[in-house]
Amino acid sequence: MGSDTTRFIIFIVFSSLLSSIAAGSGSYDPKALDPLFRYYANRTLANHHRTGTSRRVSLPSKFSGMEVYVNRLRSGSLWGRGVDSKYVKIPPSVTTLPYVKRLAIVYDNLGNWSTKYYQLPGYSLVSPVIGFEVYNYTDVTTLMDANLTMIVTGEPISIRFPYLETKERNVTKLKCVGFRHNGSVEFKNMTHRDVCVTEKAGHFCVVIPTPTSSTPEKKGRVWNWWVIGFAIGAVGVAVAVSVAVAVVKWWGERKIKHMEKESDSSVALDTFWVRGDHKMPSASMIRTQPALEHDYVP
Ligand SMILES: *[C@@H]1O[C@H](CO)[C@@H](O)[C@H](O)[C@H]1NC(C)=O
Ligand SMILES: *[C@@H]1O[C@H](CO)[C@@H](O)[C@H](O)[C@H]1NC(C)=O
Ligand SMILES: *[C@@H]1O[C@H](CO)[C@@H](O)[C@H](O)[C@H]1NC(C)=O
Ligand SMILES: *[C@@H]1O[C@H](CO)[C@@H](O)[C@H](O)[C@H]1NC(C)=O
Ligand SMILES: *[C@@H]1O[C@H](CO)[C@@H](O)[C@H](O)[C@H]1NC(C)=O
Ligand SMILES: *[C@@H]1O[C@H](CO)[C@@H](O)[C@H](O)[C@H]1NC(C)=O
Ligand SMILES: *[C@@H]1O[C@H](CO)[C@@H](O)[C@H](O)[C@H]1NC(C)=O
Repeated sequence: MGSDTTRFIIFIVFSSLLSSIAAGSGSYDPKALDPLFRYYANRTLANHHRTGTSRRVSLPSKFSGMEVYVNRLRSGSLWGRGVDSKYVKIPPSVTTLPYVKRLAIVYDNLGNWSTKYYQLPGYSLVSPVIGFEVYNYTDVTTLMDANLTMIVTGEPISIRFPYLETKERNVTKLKCVGFRHNGSVEFKNMTHRDVCVTEKAGHFCVVIPTPTSSTPEKKGRVWNWWVIGFAIGAVGVAVAVSVAVAVVKWWGERKIKHMEKESDSSVALDTFWVRGDHKMPSASMIRTQPALEHDYVP
């Protein structure tokens, strides 16, 4: 009975663990982000016709935590003045290939969604993922995907991260990562602690290598704790069950003993009274018998 209960409890714990792991691994496809941001940026631009300023793009509330901005400008303006937005600075002397007359630049900061969409085995993200994409906006009604390539002839484009989640001050330990549309990942050394430089559009973040020596050890330790936890749980359940069984047994035996004792004493009492009943009349009969004999035998 004890081992069955233990097995059942372990089964329940394991199945709930597995289902929670399955529920945690949702599907977040980074390829879905650019079309999403483009769609909402297009809607924002349709309502605001002024050029040259960055506009916050409103996303559906289920994406809250992401920040998206859109900026529409002429190619000549990009070349001559560049464009400085909240997280991305495009310096002058940048143009696109193929050339377009007007373009729209969509910037995004994935914020707390960064690690949902982007993971790198062996590395930890220490910044939010920030990206930008460039579209043909020549007809001023729709953001057209034209696979525009940035041509940087002067200073590089810089991505400025609002914060780094690390105490690491040594920039040589931090790496800048660029995620390309085709799924390839590019690593770059950083020159400043919270700035990445690039010559292409895409998504970027700062990473530090996850300490490789301690990772398996930590996992082993976690696993050990699980095993120890299960063992303690199993032993606890077994002990509880055997204690319960012992208590029930003892209780039952005590009850039986008590009943036996009770019946014993009642039997003794009965025999006492029976004996008394028998003795008393028999004694009196013995004593009265001569009197009766005397009375009846005159
Ligand atoms: C990010 O934070 C917002 C609130 O600021 C929250 O609504 C959203 O669910 C969070 N997203 C994730 C993936 O944690
Ligand atoms: C950009 O859009 C304009 C207007 O729709 C179009 O004429 C032009 O071919 C487009 N350029 C590219 C490179 O797609
Ligand atoms: C952008 O919005 C216009 C209407 O303002 C619409 O005609 C067009 O299809 C939209 N383009 C995209 C890529 O959503
Ligand atoms: C842009 O390139 C992708 C492949 O990289 C292709 O599927 C898509 O059709 C191209 N879009 C345009 C407008 O050329
Ligand atoms: C930064 O780390 C590198 C190794 O990654 C090391 O050679 C260098 O001395 C460190 N610099 C400082 C200032 O700690
Ligand atoms: C992906 O594109 C980059 C250029 O953006 C190129 O250097 C790289 O080789 C490509 N990788 C694959 C797997 O196609
Ligand atoms: C980055 O820095 C390391 C030394 O810290 C050097 O070995 C490596 O070649 C550098 N990589 C690039 C792409 O500059």
